[in-house]
This record gives sequence, structure tokens and C-alpha cells, in this order.
Amino acid sequence: MSTSETLPTPEPSLRERLVGLDPMAAEHPEAIRVVRSPARVNLIGEHTDYNGGLVLPAAIDLEIQVALIPTDDDRVELTLASTGERGVIDLRDVGPRRGTWLDYVAGTAWALREAGVPISGFRGILESSIPSGAGLSSSAALELAMAWALTRGEGPPLDPMRLALTAQRAENEYVGVMCGLMDQFAVTLGQAGKALMLDCRSLEWHPVPIPPELEIVVCHSGSPRRLEASAYNARRDECHRAVTALAARERGVASLRDVDLPMLERHEAELDEVAYARAMHVVTENARVVAVESALRDGDFLALGSLFAASHASLRDRFEVSSPALDALVEIAVETPGVVAARLTGAGFGGCTVNLVERGRADELRTKVDRDYGRRTGLTPSVFVVDAADGAGPVLFDTPA
Ligand code: GLA
Repeated sequence: MSTSETLPTPEPSLRERLVGLDPMAAEHPEAIRVVRSPARVNLIGEHTDYNGGLVLPAAIDLEIQVALIPTDDDRVELTLASTGERGVIDLRDVGPRRGTWLDYVAGTAWALREAGVPISGFRGILESSIPSGAGLSSSAALELAMAWALTRGEGPPLDPMRLALTAQRAENEYVGVMCGLMDQFAVTLGQAGKALMLDCRSLEWHPVPIPPELEIVVCHSGSPRRLEASAYNARRDECHRAVTALAARERGVASLRDVDLPMLERHEAELDEVAYARAMHVVTENARVVAVESALRDGDFLALGSLFAASHASLRDRFEVSSPALDALVEIAVETPGVVAARLTGAGFGGCTVNLVERGRADELRTKVDRDYGRRTGLTPSVFVVDAADGAGPVLFDTPA
């Protein structure tokens, strides 16, 4: 037996799989486009975006890729590479939401049209390395992948912030999830090697380099996030209750961003206990975002550790969105040599933690989590070492089939 016969057959590229699926793609391989769209992890600034506050997310190199061939028939036919499931949308009338992943396709088409963007159909195949239900914004990634696919792989002719807002509108008004802007912003505007500081009140933003001595490690708790939507909306309402009470007593309060700590403390007695605790989280979290940016710039790892710890504690005790599983992951991480900082990331109620780890030491965290987490919780964790990546766009290095 020759060596070549013993080698495993290489996986066909997504482009080759589309050629195998679609006669038109086979006939015109030069017309195939490949687009990619990343997941995101939030370094800090949790539950602040819908309160006009500050966030510091990064796009990461877990991603969705779509190989597609644009068509002129106002239809989207998209196959999931993992299962072979095929979804079809008629762009002339995307219809009401269905409660499946196709809503993100239909919702993005709807929101692009509302923004005056011409869209066209395509036939494509989608592959994803983003774990679903992990709180790493696989939905925002799908929205932005669709925004590129629906515009022939060329990208909507919109300013990137406008594009992020359009994708958020798809999620808020079509899919019906009342998320803030953070996820769509990070997935659209991500930059390799950098986190992005966004002011959700002014929409001003700037990149913040991640020190090269640090690696980002995402630990997925493997716990279901069933109550997420209702609990998320309840938190939004509680924040709103705090704003209403404060706005009745102080001038110029339109959101929790307009509230500082002395002001909040002055009105403690006039707020119900829950609204006060939620507001306290948001006000202190905004300050932690500013402090984390400085600590990243100064390479102050001790400060990063205590700011992440304070954020996690505040999310657990004041905002009440942690879980025993996420607490266990953070407790295990902070006891591990080489781990600089650890906290829950995203909405909470399950999902992932984000860890900043000294470069080259991620394996120590992986080993510790693999050994201790299952024993403590009975759940199966997954550990991802990720890099900050560019936002959604065409795959330029792709070669013709
Ligand atoms: C989810 C939402 C975001 C943000 C986070 C919490 O990821 O989609 O808009 O509110 O939760 O920070």
C-alpha cells in the first residue's frame, strides 16, 4: 500500500461542496463568493449596552462561512453543511417569523430593505464553528453573514455602524429579541488583535489593542440558557424602572448612563430594592469598562484581575444573571496559575466565561477545567482559545474551485 493511499481524504472546501450541490455553481465556479462572519466575546461592560453605557467586546475567530452563488430569482436557498437541512426564503415576501434559524435570514432581508438596500437571492451552503446557544452571538454572526450574502458577497452600501444598527433592527423587530447593539457592532466592526470600546449613547467607538502577552480563553459551561429571553427582558424593565424613578427627581436623566454613583446613592430610599441593585450594577460596570481599557493599555494585569472579579460579583449578586455553573468556572479559573482575569460574558443565565490568560498557559486552564468542572457540576465544559478577529466580510484568500 503506498503512502498516498493511507492518507485521509481531505475535507472538501465549502466552495467545493457548493459545486457538488448546485449545477449553476458547477457551471460558473468563478461566480461563487465566500463570506465570513465572526462570533464575539465581551471583555467587559455587561448589560450596559441597552442602558446607553460602555462595552468592550472583540470579534473572535470562531465564525460562520457561507459559499454562495448570487441569483436573480428573489429566492434564498441555504443548506446547513452540518446537517444538510435546507431553508428557503422568498424575498418578495419574507412572511412572518417561523421560530427557526431562517428568521435571521428573513429578518436581515427585511431590515436591509427597510434601510433602502437593494438585495438579491442566492443559493449557498453555510458552515459554522460557533457553538450554538453558548452566548457567543451566533445570531449576530448569522445576521451579518446574511447581510453580505444578500448583497452578492459585496456587502451592503451602508456605513458599518448603520449596518450594525440595521442588523440589530432585524433582531429586535423581526426576530423579536430585544438585544442591545453590542453583538452586531462587534461582529460588524471587529479588528484583529483588538477589542472595541463602544459608547452606546453617542455611538463613538475606538479599538483597544489586546496586549500580546495575553490570550483570550472562552470556557463554555455547557449549561442550557432556557430562561434567557424572559429574564433578559425582565432585567431591561428593572433598569427602566430605576431610570423612571431617578428621572422624576433629577434633571437630564434619560438612561442609566446619565446617573453616577453619588446620585444613585442619594436616591436609594426612593427606589425599590431590585431596581436599585440593577442600577448599581450598571453604574459601577460603566466605570469598570473605563478602568479595564486603562489596565489593558498599561499592561496592569493585577488591575484586570480585580476588575473582572468585581464585574462577575456584581453580575452575580446585583444583576443576578450568573449561575452555579458560571460561578464554578470562574472559581476554577482564578485558582489556576497563569490566569490573569475571569468573569462571565454575554447575557449570563448559562453560556460562557471569558478569561485573560498569560500567553502559552491556556493548556493549564483547559486541564484544570476538564478535571474539576465536571466533578463540581456534572456538566461538560468546552474550552476555546481564541484570537480577536476582523468583522464580517468577504473571504479574500479563497481560490477558485
Ligand atoms: C446579550 C445581548 C447584548 C447585551 C448582552 C449583555 O448578548 O445581545 O446586547 O445586552 O447580552 O451585556
